[in-house]
Amino acid sequence: MTDETKPKLRSRAWFDNPENIDMTALYLERYLNFGISLEELRSGKPIIGIAQSGSDLSPCNRHHLVLAERVREGIREAGGIPMEFPVHPIQETGKRPGAALDRNLTYLGLVELLYGYPLDGVVLTVGCDKTTPAALMAAATVNIPAIALSVGPMLNGWHKGERTGSGTIVWKAREMLAAGKIDDEGFIKLVASSAPSTGYCNTMGTATTMNSLTEALGMSLPGSAAIPAPYRDRQECAWRTGKRIVDMVHEDLKPSDILTKEAFHNAIRVNSAIGGSTNAPIHLAAIARHIGVDLPLTDWEEIGHKIPLLVNLQPAGEYLGEDYYHAGGVPAVVAQLMGQGLIHEDALTANGKSIGDNCRDATIEDDKVIKPFDQPLKEEAGFIVMTGNLFDQAIMKTSVISDDFRARYLSNPDDPEAFEGPAVVFDGPEDYHHRIDDPALGITTETLLFMRGTGPIGYPGAAEVVNMRPPAYLITEGVGALPCIGDGRQSGTSGSPSILNASPEAAAMGGLALLQTGDRVRMDLKKGRVDVLISDEELAQRRADLEARGGFPYPASQTPWQEIQRSMVGQLNTGMILEGSEKFQRIHQT
Ligand code: FES
Ligand code: MG
Repeated sequence: MTDETKPKLRSRAWFDNPENIDMTALYLERYLNFGISLEELRSGKPIIGIAQSGSDLSPCNRHHLVLAERVREGIREAGGIPMEFPVHPIQETGKRPGAALDRNLTYLGLVELLYGYPLDGVVLTVGCDKTTPAALMAAATVNIPAIALSVGPMLNGWHKGERTGSGTIVWKAREMLAAGKIDDEGFIKLVASSAPSTGYCNTMGTATTMNSLTEALGMSLPGSAAIPAPYRDRQECAWRTGKRIVDMVHEDLKPSDILTKEAFHNAIRVNSAIGGSTNAPIHLAAIARHIGVDLPLTDWEEIGHKIPLLVNLQPAGEYLGEDYYHAGGVPAVVAQLMGQGLIHEDALTANGKSIGDNCRDATIEDDKVIKPFDQPLKEEAGFIVMTGNLFDQAIMKTSVISDDFRARYLSNPDDPEAFEGPAVVFDGPEDYHHRIDDPALGITTETLLFMRGTGPIGYPGAAEVVNMRPPAYLITEGVGALPCIGDGRQSGTSGSPSILNASPEAAAMGGLALLQTGDRVRMDLKKGRVDVLISDEELAQRRADLEARGGFPYPASQTPWQEIQRSMVGQLNTGMILEGSEKFQRIHQT
C-alpha cells in the first residue's frame, strides 16, 4: 500500500493536528515522557494499544504480562508504536459475587480507552472466561482495527496417572467429598492438581470455548487459540499478532469487516463441534449486538443443534488443552465442518484471508482427540432452545446428557424425551447449599431441581449455579445427576445436563418467580418445553399475589456498580448487555 492510499490514522488527530496546535503540543509533550521521541510520534507510525488483562488479581491471564513484551517487539518490527495499558481485571474464580458482573464493567472501561485515546489499532489480550467477550464487545462497539491474543490454556493436569481438568474436577471432587471418598485435604489436592501452570482452564470450559470461537469468528490468528500458555509457540504467536495488527491498521481492516452474520454462524457450528460452553450464546449475542448483527437465540438450535461433537475434551469427553492443540486445534475442526459445507468459507479473518483459505488444508493429527466428521463422539451435539410457561427462552447443552441420565429420565417408551415430576425450588445458591442435603426436602430420582433468583438482576451478573448436584444420599446410591432448571448460568466446565439461562429471570418476574416446591413440572426435550402443570388462572393469581407483595425479592446491591448494572442490564437470552439506545450500543467511529 502506498502512503497516498493508506487510510489516515486516527492518532493524527492528537499528534499532528495543525488546526489545534495547542492541544497537539499538550498531547505530544506528555506522551514523550515514556521515552518515545518527538520524531517517532510525528512520523505517522500507527499507535497500537495493548489492552493488558493480565495481573496478579487475574492469574489465568497473568502470562500476558510476559507475552506483551513479544507483542511489543512484533508491533515495533512492523513499524508501529506500542502503548500498553491495563484493563479492569476479571478473575473467574476470585471475584465476588461473580465474575460475570464485571464483563460489562470491563467492556465499558475498554470502550472509553479505545475511544478516548490516540489508538489506531489494538491487541486485545484475552483468556479467562469473561475477559474475551468483554474485549470483543468493546472492539465491536468502537470498531477500530483489533486482534485478539489468547493467553492459551494451562498444561494438562494430572493426578494418579489420570488427567484432571480445571473446573471439571471440582464437580467430581464435590461428589467424592459428599460420598466420603476423600477428606477436605484430599479435595484441595485433587482440585489443585488440575491447574499445573500459567494459562486458563485446560478443559472445554468457557475460556477454551470463547478463545476457540474468537478464532472461528476470525478475530485472532488462525491456529492460535489452542496453543498452551507456556509453549514457545505461544510467544511466537504473540509476536506475530503484534506484527499483524500494524498491517490491519494500514489495511483499515475493522471488526465490522470480520464480525459478519456468516462469521457468527461459523462460530455457532464450531461451538457445537467442540462441545462449547453454555455461556457462549450469552457472549456471542452480546458481541453481535454491539457490532449490529441480528443473532437470535433460536439460531443456536437452527444452525447448531444438528452438528456432531468432534472434540473429545472434558467435560463432554476425556482429554485436555495440550491434547487439543496437538490434535490440530480450531483449524482441524473447521476443516471437518468445511468438508460438509457447514462453514461460510468466505468469511474474512484477522490475517486478511478467508477462514476457508486458512483452514482448508488443516488435518486432524490425533483422532482420539478430534474426531472426523463421520465418526463423531455424539450426533446432534448442539444446544436446544427451550420455552414453556416458566420462561420464554432457555438453553440446554445436549452433548453432556449421559447415557445414564437418558436411561433414567428420557427413555419412557410411552413418553420418550419427556419427564414429569415434583419441583424442589431453591432461591439462590446459598439456599441450595444450605438445604440440598436436608432429607426433609424429600428429593428422590423423581424430583426436578429448580434454581431461581440467579439471573443478571437477581444475582448481579447471573450466578453459575444451576448445575446442582443431587443430595449426598442419592449420590451414594449412584445417582449422578437430577434434572436441573434455572435462571442462572452454569460453569462451562460442568458436565451437567441442565436447562439454563432461563429468561426472563424470576427477579424480572419471569414464570420461575411463581413456581412452588411440590408443583408438578413436565420437561419435554422433543417439544423443547418445560411447563408447570397448573392452570393459567392459578398462575395469574400467583402473579397478582406476588406483585401485591412487591415482586420477587432479591438481595440489596453491595456496590455502586451492582446498582448501576441492575438498573440497565438485559436478560441472558439477549446477551446480558447494558440496554440503551442504538448509539449507546455502537460508536463505529473511525
Ligand atoms: Fe480463568 Fe477458568 S478460571 S479460565
Ligand atoms: Mg465460568
